[in-house]
Amino acid sequence: MSIDAQPTLGQTSQETSQETSQETLENWLDQITDDEIATARQLSLVPLKSTILHHGDPGGATVYDHKGQAYIDCTAQAWTLNVGYCHPDVIAAIEAQMRRLTHVRYAYPTIPRLKLIRRLATMFPGSPYQVCLNVQGGGAANEAAMKLAMINKPGADIFLVASHGYHGASLATLTASQYFPMVTRFPSFGRAHFVRFPYPYCYRCPLAKEPRTCGLACLDLVEQAIRSAHGVVAGLLIEPMQGAGGQVPTPPGYLAGLKELCQQHDIFLIFDECQTAFGRVGVMSAAEYYNVAPDMLVLSKALGGGLPIGALLARSDLGLKGFTSAEEHTTFGSAPLSFAAALANIAVIEREGLCERSRIMGEMVTARLRQLQEEVDIIGDVRCPGLFIGVELVEDRESKTPATERAAAFVELAKQAGVLFDVSMPEIVRGRLTMRNVIKIKPPLTITEEEMEQVLETFTFCVQQVAQIPASMKQDIVRQMMAEANLA
Ligand SMILES: Cc1ncc(COP(=O)(O)O)c(C=O)c1O
Repeated sequence: MSIDAQPTLGQTSQETSQETSQETLENWLDQITDDEIATARQLSLVPLKSTILHHGDPGGATVYDHKGQAYIDCTAQAWTLNVGYCHPDVIAAIEAQMRRLTHVRYAYPTIPRLKLIRRLATMFPGSPYQVCLNVQGGGAANEAAMKLAMINKPGADIFLVASHGYHGASLATLTASQYFPMVTRFPSFGRAHFVRFPYPYCYRCPLAKEPRTCGLACLDLVEQAIRSAHGVVAGLLIEPMQGAGGQVPTPPGYLAGLKELCQQHDIFLIFDECQTAFGRVGVMSAAEYYNVAPDMLVLSKALGGGLPIGALLARSDLGLKGFTSAEEHTTFGSAPLSFAAALANIAVIEREGLCERSRIMGEMVTARLRQLQEEVDIIGDVRCPGLFIGVELVEDRESKTPATERAAAFVELAKQAGVLFDVSMPEIVRGRLTMRNVIKIKPPLTITEEEMEQVLETFTFCVQQVAQIPASMKQDIVRQMMAEANLA
């Protein structure tokens, strides 16, 4: 049948019509009783936050709960909504695609899938890349990278990973990640396949050196890790700027040094850019920021404009020994809605100049926060670039003791004031919960100047308040945090 002979797009060939009433739809999407909420919470296998989110400003940074309370969102919902909530162009692409196809089997391409492969192949340093898309997100894309490294280096099944890294919640990527007690209780699954090296966290240098004079001595630690590996190393997986681990960019020159090391030892360098790509760091990717092309680049989060998606980009010669038709197969992996959304999302980022906007706004915000640091002792460090901002709270600047409890109180107080923030991952040291002391400021890149002003005012108020919490109250805050995390 020729395209002309098809039914008009938007109609089905049989007369299937919508039976669900408007009232039913509203009941599903807009209305809920206290009783329904309480029973659903009991039935949920995972803990759920108290706030029930309902809708967001189209293309904006403000989200509303089911009772209409507004929040400026400095989390972009897991650093994902770079183009804001429900961007009209993303919605238009999804709606149009929905009327054509919502699902096809993995091996079938659709037009948006083919266009997205072509688009991603040439967007990043080191291009052209070969592309593998998924719909489960970053963890699955990281696993695809590990698989491709093993295919291209037969017999090698060891991966170097950094301390405080986070790469996903599948069993392999959990082990690749730092053991974060609130996130995983399966730290040893497949441990034999990973060797950890210290991440270059300059504020807390693993070698206790000064950034200006260290000569990147921490690269030697990577070399030692390579030599200590008890098998053949296939790849080195790293976030070029750590997110969950505390908003920590690698220092200048580090990734270039890492690339050289990897080349010397025939190891594939894999950048996990789930958090850093698509304008978050003021340019399209951290690879671009540092001008270092990895062998493989992993994407997710902000790629889909709010729809689930993940992607592995691999140096084109690695594709010569690529996947079979089954190795990356998943039922929903050819996801027409996600791929259409991603095409619209990339177009919006470019058209609205969101990389530049993120860079300029990030410079303004970090300058203001550094001024505030002069007045508030518990601000130990302010880190950027772009709208990838972390503010590390400490008990005092000398000892750098993480102000874990003050950070928890900060997040709660800010929420009451109408701003959502989140914090870095925790650690348990000698049975005590620590770290989780970096406040993240990572809103949609479309956040308005007025909203950002309100964010800064709220930040200033809250940090001044929590700086005054007496030591005697901190224990109560910790107990509550441990109880909420099922760790008490
Ligand atoms: C750097 C990084 N990699 C991987 C992941 C895992 O992505 P997903 O949750 O989509 O599997 C995350 C999620 O937070 C992440 O921050």
